[in-house]
Amino acid sequence: SVFNCNVIDLPKIHNRSGNITPIHGDLDIPFAIKRVYYLYDIPGGENRGGHAHYRLHQLLIAASGSFDVILDDGRMRKTVSLNRPNVGLLITPGIWRDLVNFSSGAVLLVLASEHYDATDYIRDYDEFITLTKRETNK
Ligand code: TYD
Repeated sequence: SVFNCNVIDLPKIHNRSGNITPIHGDLDIPFAIKRVYYLYDIPGGENRGGHAHYRLHQLLIAASGSFDVILDDGRMRKTVSLNRPNVGLLITPGIWRDLVNFSSGAVLLVLASEHYDATDYIRDYDEFITLTKRETNK
């Protein structure tokens, strides 16, 4: 559920010449990292996301700038604003996410637990709702 999608404070090594945030899979975050990707040059007013995953765990980081993540487990919604490079948002499987309000120049860094797999996406919201109902009736 959205209750499992927590904000994680990441390590920050700070000195006068700047900061470093190292992230170790399975140590700083609760999954092993198989893929890294980042979104950038996002046009003003554009939204991203609009899907859920069957298996994928992700950590979203505002490496630069800011954006809002609307999480939806089929029962409840929760909005999280990301705007610091040393904070990550964990998204567990089965969560619909919409990414909105990107600041200009925002860079969204994603750490993912699986390689890219088009069949792992749920892109139809009605289908997502049907699937979440089926899960809760088990
Ligand atoms: P998508 O995950 O829908 O983007 P977002 O959730 O950020 O809006 O991916 C957009 C397109 O990019 C889609 O055609 C699949 C492709 N893609 C890859 O080929 N590999 C990847 O690792 C990712 C994340 C996307």
